[in-house]
Formats: sequence, C-alpha cells, structure tokens
Amino acid sequence: MSEHGSDSMRYLESIEGIEPSHLEGFFQGWRCKPTPQQFLAILGGSSRVVLAWDASSARVVGFINALSDGRLMAFIPLLEVLPAFRGRGIGSALVRRMLTRLNEHYAVDVVCDADVVSFYKRHDLRSGHSMMRRNYEWPQPLANLCEDGTQE
Ligand SMILES: CC(C)(COP(=O)(O)OP(=O)(O)OC[C@H]1O[C@@H](n2cnc3c(N)ncnc32)[C@H](O)[C@@H]1OP(=O)(O)O)[C@@H](O)C(=O)NCCC(=O)NCCS
Repeated sequence: MSEHGSDSMRYLESIEGIEPSHLEGFFQGWRCKPTPQQFLAILGGSSRVVLAWDASSARVVGFINALSDGRLMAFIPLLEVLPAFRGRGIGSALVRRMLTRLNEHYAVDVVCDADVVSFYKRHDLRSGHSMMRRNYEWPQPLANLCEDGTQE
C-alpha cells in the first residue's frame, strides 16, 4: 500500500511485528517522554492505532491512537509525525484512517494545542471546550499519590 507519492509508506492498523527499536524519536518537546518500550505498551493498550511505516528505513515515522468504549465515545490522545516526514500528507492520512475506523461512534474527541486546531478543522472536527490535568513530571507520581505509589 502506498499513499501521497511515497512507495515506501505503509499504514498499519496493528502493532504486530513492531519492536521498541522501530519507535524512536517520538514525543518531541515533551519534558518527560515514554521510552520506546513504554511507547509500545501505550500503543498496545490503545483501542485502535494507525502507524505510518516507512519501509525504506524500516521504522515507524508517524502514528495516531484512539481510546474507545467500543460504542459511544472515542478519544484521540496522540498524533505525531516525525519532523523529517512532516508536510507530506502523512498526518492527514493517519487522521483520515482513524476517523474512518471510528465512524460508528457518536463522539470523537481530541484535546490539542491551539496551533493544531486548523489541522483538525480540515478533517471536519470543530472546536469545543475541554478540561484536563497533566502531570508534566510523568512517570513520577502525582503529589496526591502516597510514597508507596498507592492513591490517597
Ligand atoms: C500535526 C502533525 C501530525 C501534522 O502532520 P503532517 O504529516 O505534517 O501533516 P500533513 O502533511 O498531512 O499536513 C496537512 C496540512 O495541514 C497543515 N498542517 C500540518 N501541521 C499543522 C499544524 N500543526 N497546524 C496547522 N496546520 C498544520 C500542513 O501545512 C498541510 O497543509 P497543506 O495541505 O496546505 O500543505 C505534525 O505536524 C506533528 O506531528 N506535530 C507535532 C505533534 C502534534 O502537534 N500533534 C497533534 C497533537 S493532538
């Protein structure tokens, strides 16, 4: 399968055969970022994933994941394309494929930075309000966790 003029780009909808070494370079700009091993576990724990696999370099160069209750609500927590591969339509292809997979849901929600709003609007998502909590020291425990790691 190829798309947008790149014969070496394939879009995978499972992590079968994916190893941590295929997942280097993501979470650009994050203060604390998952290791490739943790990243693979995050993908494995997701309801759906789409990976952009560059066959010529044998690695993942973009991904999107979704968490879903299987019927009503789905959330897209993460979308990223490695900087060297941006601007080639890969991010759009990932979003399109994921939205198609999530077609049966009532809602698909994304929380994103303001500069990505116009990108998502191109895919017929509209702006709303969101509430969020972030632990920028992740994977360190949040303040309300006990020293032994259990929740207060
Ligand atoms: C957002 C992101 C996934 C887009 O990936 P990409 O492969 O470059 O996207 P595309 O090539 O499909 O871009 C499609 C169009 O959207 C535009 N676009 C890309 N990134 C954009 C952004 N951050 N804001 C607004 N428009 C953007 C492109 O200019 C392009 O426009 P064009 O068709 O007029 O040339 C990528 O920039 C990225 O990984 N950013 C950092 C992580 C991030 O912000 N993720 C979203 C978190 S929810």
